[in-house]
Amino acid sequence: MELFSIKLLFCVVFCCVVHVALTVKGLKWVRVNVPQFRVPGETAILHCDYDLGGDALYAVKWYKEHEEFYRFVPKATPQANSYKVEGVHVDMSKSDSKKVSLHSVGWKTSGLFRCEVSAEAPSFASAQSEARMEVVSLPQEDPVITGVEIQYQIGDEINLNCTSGRSYPASILHWYINEQQVVTPSSLIRYPHTHHKHGLISVTLGLRFTLSSRHFLGGSMRVKCVASVSPELWRGDRESVVQSMAVKDMREALLLATVLSGLVSDNSSTKEDPAFHIQEHPE
Ligand SMILES: *[C@@H]1O[C@H](CO)[C@@H](O)[C@H](O)[C@H]1NC(C)=O
Ligand SMILES: *[C@@H]1O[C@H](CO)[C@@H](O)[C@H](O)[C@H]1NC(C)=O
Repeated sequence: MELFSIKLLFCVVFCCVVHVALTVKGLKWVRVNVPQFRVPGETAILHCDYDLGGDALYAVKWYKEHEEFYRFVPKATPQANSYKVEGVHVDMSKSDSKKVSLHSVGWKTSGLFRCEVSAEAPSFASAQSEARMEVVSLPQEDPVITGVEIQYQIGDEINLNCTSGRSYPASILHWYINEQQVVTPSSLIRYPHTHHKHGLISVTLGLRFTLSSRHFLGGSMRVKCVASVSPELWRGDRESVVQSMAVKDMREALLLATVLSGLVSDNSSTKEDPAFHIQEHPE
């Protein structure tokens, strides 16, 4: 069986060259259509479309990162076979010469999927196409702000960290002061991502700024960290047709700094610097 496929492979390679040189008939194209993103537990249907151009189909083979997991050969008995590949669970009853259905996808399912189509004699032509599918895990927790001191004064340096919940792909973090996104590069400190089990990632973004009275609107300041997972941003420019799934998830953590009682900030003749305290979970 194995020897037969090796011989056949030689023949496919050799005859394919001849085929291209002698004729433009036969297998024209192969194109995969794979969902770009899936959430764990979902089903993913991977399509393989092709134009045999009058040739008879010999085989359709599916690979994940070079490991074959499904083969459909019309003349074989049984016609369809699946092979064990980590993270790939083929639903045989819903798979055929044009598609494979993967049930309950998980983080190990993410990867590059390739469909290879070959024609029967006399052409033995073969062609393939590939595309990535990523299994997305949204964070289960809100981001956490750390580094908060009990009390601050005007002129103090504020040094905070915001750490996202674990997700895949990595969350994108943004800091806001009074609803204005912090964009000044010197105020933002990027740390290397932390990699956890199951391919999950958490991200830390630092915020550093000097507290000034202009940060206090009506006696308080709101510092917020927003984490989002938006895999749409990942859209690559592969040739294969991809479906995109709009997964968007936003989570936030808020700090509210208020003037300590007894100090009146609108008295311009006040010489003492007012002090502020920060609430971690306002409301
Ligand atoms: C922020 O996190 C980084 C990386 O974990 C750490 O080195 C740094 O000390 C933290 N800073 C604060 C203010 O917590
Ligand atoms: C402002 O503060 C000074 C003391 O620092 C006090 O004498 C004065 O009455 C205050 N003015 C107002 C409008 O509160």
